[in-house]
Amino acid sequence: MDKEKMDAFVAAVKDRTDILHVVQAYVPLKARGGRYWGLCPFHHEKTPSFSVVPDKGFYYCFGCHAGGNAFNFLSKIENITYFEAIKMQAEKLGIPMPERHSSKAELERDKEREDLRKVNAMARDFYHNCLTLTRLGTPGKQYFAGRGIQDATIAEFHLGYAPDAWDKLSRAFLQRGVPEELLIKAGLASPRKNGGGLYDRFRGRVIIPIADIRGQVVGFGGRVLDDSKPKYLNTPETILFNKRRLLFGLDRAHRAIQDADYAIIVEGYMDAISVFDAGVHNVVASLGTAFTAEHAKLLLRYTANLVFCYDSDEAGQKATMRALTIVRNTGANVRVIVVPDGKDPDEFIRKHGADAFRELAERARDLVEYRLAYVLAHVRYDTLEGKTRVIQEMAPVLAGIQNAARIVEYRRRLAQTLMLDEGVVSGELRRYAKMDFLEERDVRPAGPMQRPPARKPDDALEKAGRIVIRMVWADPELLVHVKSMVPIESIPVPEQREILAYIEKTAAEGGAPDDVQAAAALSEPAGEELARAIAGEDSARHVGTDEADKARAMQAYQDSLQALRNAYLEAQYMEHTRLAENAMREGNTGLWREETQKAMDFRKQKIE
Ligand code: GTP
Ligand code: MN
Repeated sequence: MDKEKMDAFVAAVKDRTDILHVVQAYVPLKARGGRYWGLCPFHHEKTPSFSVVPDKGFYYCFGCHAGGNAFNFLSKIENITYFEAIKMQAEKLGIPMPERHSSKAELERDKEREDLRKVNAMARDFYHNCLTLTRLGTPGKQYFAGRGIQDATIAEFHLGYAPDAWDKLSRAFLQRGVPEELLIKAGLASPRKNGGGLYDRFRGRVIIPIADIRGQVVGFGGRVLDDSKPKYLNTPETILFNKRRLLFGLDRAHRAIQDADYAIIVEGYMDAISVFDAGVHNVVASLGTAFTAEHAKLLLRYTANLVFCYDSDEAGQKATMRALTIVRNTGANVRVIVVPDGKDPDEFIRKHGADAFRELAERARDLVEYRLAYVLAHVRYDTLEGKTRVIQEMAPVLAGIQNAARIVEYRRRLAQTLMLDEGVVSGELRRYAKMDFLEERDVRPAGPMQRPPARKPDDALEKAGRIVIRMVWADPELLVHVKSMVPIESIPVPEQREILAYIEKTAAEGGAPDDVQAAAALSEPAGEELARAIAGEDSARHVGTDEADKARAMQAYQDSLQALRNAYLEAQYMEHTRLAENAMREGNTGLWREETQKAMDFRKQKIE
């Protein structure tokens, strides 16, 4: 592709694009305090927290943290790629596209996606027809009937059946001209071990098509009809099928999620289908993998309230605890539906009906309640050690509560349950909450419960990073100063590191940072973080032009940089202390002295 022509085209579209104009076509906005406000189109809300800062060219939502430039907005709201958004805007403005010569690799990738989509759509129809129109589908029909799944649901989800034969699908598709490699790439068939030809991946299983958010089929799940193993078989990873990013049912559920303002997350697609069938439509399922931060992010586009409803057996409880840990730092409000007596939602609905399930959903426990119940059920707390353990497990969730009255309430309950003095409980809680932040590695002996592995840097450092980025964005020469204070690699938020590296690279090439180029060069989370730094929290402050404002902005920048430096020094101190302790344990006093000295040197440099 002719890069210069393309850059000129993008620059022309950018120059003539007014973000206010673009956004106002979708969201009514009102001017207030130097920016424009409206109801966020990306999550459900009743008071406006979505804003546009026209002279900076960014939008940002204080509620769901969506943010970016005009093209990010278009791409998100129209559900199109970033480049498609530029093209769409160009068409609106009447700017002609330069002749596009895509690179060969690009074209090949586009074609591969396109082919995979087509063959998946064909396969979905094949399995569905097999189930509903042919004699071969009888076992599948009986299976669904036995689980109480209605014909309307079979039609709605395009459920299917893969006949119990080696190559029904492969043979039919090859005859229709589908290339062998494509069937293999799509995970629908594999080459036979000896001799030529293919055999089908899914045989003698009912089939559940899995779609992306736009409703395009990207893979399949297949369930056996009896007790044989494996119970479920999914499409292997392809360029379309990524289980960490897909949520079953989201294509159908997202409107209902927005309307109800909460999403129910279940473990299996059969559960999701069953819950949907019972008339509760705001439900999605993860695909047999753990719930990921990416899943959370997808859902947070539609609501800030996540309600987990996993199996109530031991494995389900473990999975719930894991999901809660993942979600804890995303800003979502989390609750848990506890299904009585070891059941999953599907079995519960079959037995007690849809209304009973809705009632359960309304009585969902909040995160702290759930965790407390879980911890108390799993730790023997009649010894001092057990009591300490309970407090240790509860500290991180309690630290996340904003509401002071609730914290007091939980502290009291904890003290009562453990039969400890309230003051002792608070002291211990504070101690563990602090350690939780400082420790990178798990140094405590592993107990019966797992500790949350990943930890996010604290709020203050996150904000400090943004303030630094905001200044550097306006004046890239400051980067030299930043680097003299803190190594970029030591900045705790990965997206912020990515942004600073980008600014550095652009500056090295003699350019100025530019939001359109940045959006193309940065990963999506980094792009949003940049918008947040420039148009997000308290960016409205310190932006005036008079001298006092400038001085205040400079002060905020220096304070932030110092905070980042202190964290860096503290981390170095901890690291060298750890190395010193190791040396001591190994009896290496020379090394011990050296590391202790280093640790002290780092600590001395701290300025509070
Ligand atoms: P039913 O028995 O059909 O009601 O399914 P379930 O959803 O109750 O199954 P279960 O609780 O055993 O498992 C929950 C989820 O884990 C399933 O929906 C699958 O996504 C996944 N899973 C279970 N067994 C297997 C398996 O053998 N292979 C794979 N890949 N995933 C599985
Ligand atoms: Mn089940």
